[in-house]
Amino acid sequence: MCGIVGYIGKKEAFPILIKGLKWLEYRGYDSAGVALLNGSLEVYKKKGKVIEMEQFALSKNHSGTIGIGHTRWATHGEPSDENAHPQNSMNNVFTVVHNGIIENYAKLKTDLVKHSYTFKSDTDTEVLANLIDFFYHQDEGINSEMAVQLALSKVVGAYGIAVLCKNEKNKIVVARKGSPLVVGLGDGEYFIASDAAPIAEYTGQVVYLNDEDIAILQRDGFTLKNVSNNPVSLKISSIDLEIGELDKGDFDYFMMKEIYEQPKTIEETFRGRLRADHSEIVLGGLLNVFPKIEEARRIIIIGCGTSWHAALIGEYMLEEYAQVPVEVEYASEFRYRKPVINSKDVVILISQSGETADTLAALHLAKAKGATVIGICNVVGSTLARETDAGVYTHAGVEIGVASTKAFTAQVTVLTMIALKLANTKGTIDIKEYQTLVKELSEIPEKGRIILQSNDKIKAIAEKYHKAINALYLGRGYLFPVALEGALKLKEISYIHAEGYAAGEMKHGPIALVDDNLPVVVVAPQDDYYEKIVSNIQEIKARKGNVIAIVTEGDTGLKELANDVIEIPKSHPALAVLLSVIPLQLLAYHIALFKGCNVDQPRNLAKSVTVE
Ligand code: F6R
Repeated sequence: MCGIVGYIGKKEAFPILIKGLKWLEYRGYDSAGVALLNGSLEVYKKKGKVIEMEQFALSKNHSGTIGIGHTRWATHGEPSDENAHPQNSMNNVFTVVHNGIIENYAKLKTDLVKHSYTFKSDTDTEVLANLIDFFYHQDEGINSEMAVQLALSKVVGAYGIAVLCKNEKNKIVVARKGSPLVVGLGDGEYFIASDAAPIAEYTGQVVYLNDEDIAILQRDGFTLKNVSNNPVSLKISSIDLEIGELDKGDFDYFMMKEIYEQPKTIEETFRGRLRADHSEIVLGGLLNVFPKIEEARRIIIIGCGTSWHAALIGEYMLEEYAQVPVEVEYASEFRYRKPVINSKDVVILISQSGETADTLAALHLAKAKGATVIGICNVVGSTLARETDAGVYTHAGVEIGVASTKAFTAQVTVLTMIALKLANTKGTIDIKEYQTLVKELSEIPEKGRIILQSNDKIKAIAEKYHKAINALYLGRGYLFPVALEGALKLKEISYIHAEGYAAGEMKHGPIALVDDNLPVVVVAPQDDYYEKIVSNIQEIKARKGNVIAIVTEGDTGLKELANDVIEIPKSHPALAVLLSVIPLQLLAYHIALFKGCNVDQPRNLAKSVTVE
């Protein structure tokens, strides 16, 4: 949530900031702003997208080789010019961009008002700007980084901040606690961003800030310490992002590009991990902890949103094949509900971004209780990747569309590999079935490509149903979480109310919704539950519901029964997840476009939920 950028060096800062903000817009897009230090401190900010702010600033003095910028997802205060960042201190000495929430801002504000500070916005960030200013003016010997340290020592909450001081024209102070920040190291220049993507174009060397780190960036050097003023050792990491990944290519939206990338990203995820003869699965990142996984009393899988849906699929697979008890938890519940965990538990945390605040809090809790913590994560170098005992990267590449697509299928691919490897090691799976599953997993990308050829057909179905007010998604077994995921995709990008249900639950309530206006998407490939789900479809049809069925190719029975069918190639039931979700992503995408929605930047959402 919220994207931060910064630049200090010899180049003009404004174009670098704007380009960076456009990359980070997926993190929040209700308002944007930049601050530039030239002869004076110039701040330009506007409600709306980055481009609106850019147009506004272009007509003003936007020169300067040092600056910071922000794209916002509102927490405190509605989206408006006033509440946009950067936020200045009352006397315009400091300006601050901030990602996170200052939880004790009300108390700090009251104290500052007593010292005659006044406020123009509703934001917690303006409180922080004034608090920094307050400490700065306590003593002549206090410089900007000292003031930032003193202010942060009073702050409760999460922050990633970048601060400019009008009186110190060769310095940006950045600090982090809970909200990610990366510093890119150039030649006499530094770049700041909330994630590495906007930096990749300029340098391959980055430093990921850890919680409570403060970095002082000057053209001729970089100092890293912590909020308590102790030195911190510098760990430089290499990033290797292809700039092409950050481009929409021939697609209109990142979401569509990412849906189409799935055959390739699934392949990337198992590349080098599945032996060609299907005899072995190699997960190097888990090598050290694998004995712990084998001995685990139980496995708890934790995530939010789409990652939580992937976790449910992991549960089904691990229990079926590795015969280990599994629990799946929402990170936001787990972190507060005082769960019983100990050192015999293995906790798997799933997160595309690796920065989701609730998932990180769950990680810290599980770690504190002595569990072995494992990450399944897409963003290399993210906090989750750095703080877990071990992990597996999903290798899906940068996911920009706010609605997660390729990250989901990559997560399921990783979970499948973990479940099969564990089952094989423990001897809980028949060797033939193991080899069939491994072989079939390696064939999924090709089958995914076949499904993508149905795009036009799915678009035509979307046109038929895009005016619906409600939609129901049903599935059984492995395909129940797929129904949940299909419903989530539809609601988040098209704003149609959609619910996912286990098909067997239909008679316990949701069937009351069925009438001739209701589209019911049923994930019904031929598996062990096929007969049962056909009965569910009969029940919906008997009540005049409109059934869109995802079926195995050649299923003539359901072609007769359902209003519309989308075929997917035949596969092992446990792997049908990876195929059947693709038409649901496409359906949601086209429905949203028919409704005129911005699928990459749905209202009220942000890609990386770094506040709870
Ligand atoms: C839905 C979606 C969200 C995320 C959730 C967790 O399309 O993208 O539900 O899945 O916010 O995010 P990560 O996986 O980054 O922890």
